[in-house]
Amino acid sequence: MSADKGHSVSTTSPLRGKNVLLGVTGSIAAFKVAGWIHALTAQSVGVTVMMTGAAERFVSSLTFGALSGNTVYRDMFDEEPEKLMAHITLSREADVILIAPATAHTMARLAHGMADDLLSTVVLAAKIPVVICPAMNTNMLSHPATRQNLERLQGLGYQVVPPDSGNLACGEEGAGRLPEWEGVYEKLVSLFCPQDLVGKKILITAGPTREPLDPVRFLSNRSSGKMGHALARTAARRGAEVVLISGPVALAAPCFVTTLQVTTALEMREHVLQQSRDADIIVKAAAVADFRPKNYQKQKIKKNGENRQIALKENPDILAELGKNRRAGCVLVGFAAESRNHEKEGRNKLKRKNVDLIVVNDILSPTTGFDVETNQVTLVDKSGSLQLPLLSKVDTANRIWDHILTL
Ligand code: CTP
Repeated sequence: MSADKGHSVSTTSPLRGKNVLLGVTGSIAAFKVAGWIHALTAQSVGVTVMMTGAAERFVSSLTFGALSGNTVYRDMFDEEPEKLMAHITLSREADVILIAPATAHTMARLAHGMADDLLSTVVLAAKIPVVICPAMNTNMLSHPATRQNLERLQGLGYQVVPPDSGNLACGEEGAGRLPEWEGVYEKLVSLFCPQDLVGKKILITAGPTREPLDPVRFLSNRSSGKMGHALARTAARRGAEVVLISGPVALAAPCFVTTLQVTTALEMREHVLQQSRDADIIVKAAAVADFRPKNYQKQKIKKNGENRQIALKENPDILAELGKNRRAGCVLVGFAAESRNHEKEGRNKLKRKNVDLIVVNDILSPTTGFDVETNQVTLVDKSGSLQLPLLSKVDTANRIWDHILTL
C-alpha cells in the first residue's frame, strides 16, 4: 500500500486570496450584497466595489467602502490619478467580476456591448469571468426582451446565477429575487475548479437510513452524511450533473444538485435503481442499515416489565445488486466503514460487490469517520491501494474524484 503524506489538513476557503470586483446596480436588493462582502472578506477574499449611479440611490458607497476596506469606484471620469484608468485597471487586478444585483437595464446594456458608464466599460474591457445575479420585478424578468438579453449574455460567455422565487419587494410574488449567497458562492468556487466532470451524470448516496420499529422508534446509525454531501458539492463544482439520494441528515441540500430525500433502505434502493440507469459514475457513500425490524408495530410498543427482543430482517445490499448488474462504461464506487484491517476488508468488499473502487473509512479515529469535518481514507482498487492523508471532507472528496477520473 502506498501512503500520500504530502498534504496537511486544509479547512481554508477555496476562494482565499482571490480578488472579486463587485459591480452593484440600482435595485432594492443592493443592501443584501453588503452581507456578501462581509462573507467574502471573512474568508480572506479581496473585494473592490464599483457602483452605478442608480445603486447609490439605494445604498451609500460609504457602506461598501467600510465593509470591503477598499476604495469604491463610481465615476468613469474621475480625475483622481488612481481612478483615471479604472475602467481598464480594475479588472486586471481582479480574478472575477460579480454583478449583483443586476438590473434589467444593466443586463440589457451588457448584452449589447454598451459602455456608457464605469461598470459597463469595465465589463467590456475585462478578460476575466463575469458572474451575473439578476434581481427585478417578476414581470420585468419574464418580459421577452429580458429573457432574450439573458440568453444573449449566456451566449457571450457570462455566467448567470438564476434568480430565486418568492415575495418580491414590490409586493408581487414570483421569480426575480436576488439569488441566495450559497448558490452565488458555489458558482464563484466552481470558476476556480477544474471542469473535468462536465457531461457526466453522477449518482451519490449519503447519510444513514432509518428503519422504523413503531411510530416513534427506529434503528439507524451515526452517519452524518457529510462525506456524501461533500462529494455531491465538489462534483457539481467540477461541472457534473449530480443526483444525491440522501437519508435523514441535518445538512442543507447542496446547491446545483438534485437531492432526493429518503428514509429507509428499501426507499433508497428504489430510487438508486431508478437513477442508476443512465449514470456514468455511482458513488455509494451512504451507511445503509444492514437490518430492519422484521415486524413494524403500528401502535407504540409499551413496556410491560418484561425483556423484549427485536427480530431483524436483512436489508438488500444495494451496492452488491448494482455490482451484479453492471452496465458497461459506468464506474461503480463503494465505501467501507471499518475499524481494523482496512486494506484487507476493502479488498474483500471490492471483489464481493464487484466494484471499481472501495473508499475505506476508519471509523475508530476521532478525526475520521462519523460526524467530523475531516477524514482519512484508503482507496482500494484492482491495481493497488492508496492511503490519503488526513484532509477536510471537501478535500477528501476532490481527491476521490481525481482518483475516479484515472480509473
Ligand atoms: N451498502 C449497500 N446496501 C447495504 C449495505 C451497504 O449499498 N444494505 C453499501 C454502502 O453504501 C457502502 C458499501 O455497501 O458503499 C459497504 O458498506 P458497509 O456497511 O461498510 O459494508 P457492509 O456491506 O454492510 O458489510 P459489513 O457491515 O459486514 O462490513
